[in-house]
Amino acid sequence: MKTVKLLSACLLLLPLVSCTQVQNKGGDAATEQKVEALLSKMTLEEKLGQMNQISSYGNIEDMSGLIKKGEIGSILNEVDPVRVNALQRVAVEESRLGIPLLMARDVIHGFKTIFPIPLGQAATFDPQVVEDGAWIAAIEASSVGVRWTFSPMIDVSRDPRWGRIAESCGEDTYLSSVLGAAMVKGYQGDSLNSPTSIAACAKHFVGYGAAEGGRDYNSTFISERNLRNIYLPPFEAAAKAGAATFMTSFNDNDGVPSTGNKFILRDVLRGEWGFDGLVVTDWNSAREMIAHGVATDDKDAAALAVNAGVDMEMVSYTFFKYLPEEIKAGKVKQSVVDEAVRNILRVKFRLGLFDNPYVDEKKASVMYDASHLEAAKRAAEESAILLKNEGEVLPLKENIRTVAVVGPMADAPHDQLGTWIFDGEKAHTQTPLTAIKEMYGDKVQVIYEQGLAYSRDKNTAGISKAVAAAQRADVVIAFVGEESILSGEAHCLADLNLQGAQSELIAALAKTGRPLVTVIMAGRPLTIGKEVEASNAVLYSFHPGTMGGPALADLLFGKAVPSGKTPVTFLKTVGQVPLYYAHNNSGRPASSHLKPLDEVPLEASQTSEGSSSSYMDVGAQPLYPFGYGLSYTTFKYGKPQLSAGELSSKDVLTVTFDLENTGKYEGTEIAQLYVQDKVASVTRPVKELKRFARVTLKPGEKKTVSFELPISELAFWNLNMVKTVEPGDFGLWVGPDSQTGDEVFFKVVD
Ligand code: BGC
Repeated sequence: MKTVKLLSACLLLLPLVSCTQVQNKGGDAATEQKVEALLSKMTLEEKLGQMNQISSYGNIEDMSGLIKKGEIGSILNEVDPVRVNALQRVAVEESRLGIPLLMARDVIHGFKTIFPIPLGQAATFDPQVVEDGAWIAAIEASSVGVRWTFSPMIDVSRDPRWGRIAESCGEDTYLSSVLGAAMVKGYQGDSLNSPTSIAACAKHFVGYGAAEGGRDYNSTFISERNLRNIYLPPFEAAAKAGAATFMTSFNDNDGVPSTGNKFILRDVLRGEWGFDGLVVTDWNSAREMIAHGVATDDKDAAALAVNAGVDMEMVSYTFFKYLPEEIKAGKVKQSVVDEAVRNILRVKFRLGLFDNPYVDEKKASVMYDASHLEAAKRAAEESAILLKNEGEVLPLKENIRTVAVVGPMADAPHDQLGTWIFDGEKAHTQTPLTAIKEMYGDKVQVIYEQGLAYSRDKNTAGISKAVAAAQRADVVIAFVGEESILSGEAHCLADLNLQGAQSELIAALAKTGRPLVTVIMAGRPLTIGKEVEASNAVLYSFHPGTMGGPALADLLFGKAVPSGKTPVTFLKTVGQVPLYYAHNNSGRPASSHLKPLDEVPLEASQTSEGSSSSYMDVGAQPLYPFGYGLSYTTFKYGKPQLSAGELSSKDVLTVTFDLENTGKYEGTEIAQLYVQDKVASVTRPVKELKRFARVTLKPGEKKTVSFELPISELAFWNLNMVKTVEPGDFGLWVGPDSQTGDEVFFKVVD
């Protein structure tokens, strides 16, 4: 077995891909010849069979009849290697052309060893850690015969009500691009045809994260400019990184369901980006075009999807059944079907399935290898965000003798794994309670009182016991948050406060006067203003996965130092949705002045409180901005120096600054570079992340950090819908988050 390389990612300079055509790895003449040779032998039924994906069911015999006839190209949700081989044997040995099946599974943040949810991984701002996680997931999943995962999910997500924000890399286009590409690299390794590589699938193409009202599957209304500037770039980056496959999304954008959207599938993905891999629908989304009201029946839906550029249909079985009629009726061209089959066969050849279709059933298990657990722990450590640390209560000091561990998430082995863990097993989860006892039980006495049985629990009977435990302790650590079922697909919320009686629990613990450390494990950024206020320290860990316990224990006791930053804006209240840092300016930008609502005089005149883009009750500021996170140590930023004040679009700007660790602990800072295009043909975001780097410094150490930023990366889709860099003035900031840092200026000239 390969050993996991954990490359130190202390300083990473991360260019975003340029918008030139995607150079996919394969597409070589030898593969194309094989594809053509096979295609020329196929009947229409066999071609449509390749375009058909089913979900595994029943006994092998139940599926083998269909496979023998060449009616199935891919199967999802089969993870028993014996059954995988049995099914594959039918395809390879008993079907006329012996075309192997492509076995697929949602391996989203780990197969058995579960890593933090993708939103948590995004908080690491660490592409190497993210790549390692995907690589380990591929090693484990491929060992049972899975060769295709439906990941990365790179939907830019700016609405925390949407349950699937948990599966995303958050609100930022650039961060999602860099981390999505890292996942693709991790899954696919150096070569797709290595038996431990699995094909990645960039999903959901496209705009799914902008579901109206944060309700899953809902319509989106994204203009072409926003689509191109905000939602498409992570997909372009994934294609450029070699993603073998793409998945269409459930939503209709401005009336056009993605599964029937020629513009995104043919014009953009194939035409502009030169993608030659496979496009699959989302689950049943071909047929769902009937419910959308753009197809009359299955037949119509099938024709709409393939004509738009879909190659494979997930579970709805309309292609196989109805495309023969549609071809006869002249509604679908045979050449369109041929092209789709080419795309599918190409991926199967690239994966080496024709040479090596079987999985080694006798191979020793690779699941939960020590190196996998270590990588998952590191990811969980880096994903935790320190939001508050009043009086430096963290890390816990040597003189602490008794620790009260309370709360419904302290020992919730299933829930800390988060959403989309088909194959994760709670028996392998290491919870904070067990980890603190095992790793630090010789230093402190642990008193455990759950207080509430689970996150939605409204029964307050246990709170008094938790309070009694707190009173006996030197410090209280409260683990609260969300059960895993509260986020993920179709699990949206209209209320983002802590569920159940968790706020009451925190308030009661705070009243004891004992130092209170609140640790929050959740699938999304919750509105936790009250709890932050009540606590001395707050550590936000999203759902941290299998190794969340040991990671949090080391962070709490100071063996590790928090470095995570918010990958999404944390709101004060749900009514602020959508609130994200890279917004455009209104003509009347929000003023920072906020008069408490109760102080507004009765019958005040219409304009007495000013006229700015804000809320009278909570203002326009978030609870925490994008990119925010503290450390146990402190960092001082020097003023950024620019290599030139005037540059052309062909130049590269070098930005150099000093970063100093001014505190007492060694720590890692995620330095961020933001840019603003001051005047353009259309309004531009007030700030956009363009670079970031994880920089590790010892106490007192100072490093000079530099970022290289090609001016071409300032291009955007302008008034004429042309991607270009418009000359003019730009502002630039380097700092610890999206709201801090001195602005410096440069000019782009023709
Ligand atoms: C989800 C996809 C997933 C697919 C297969 C759908 O419901 O939207 O993200 O890959 O199911 O399980």
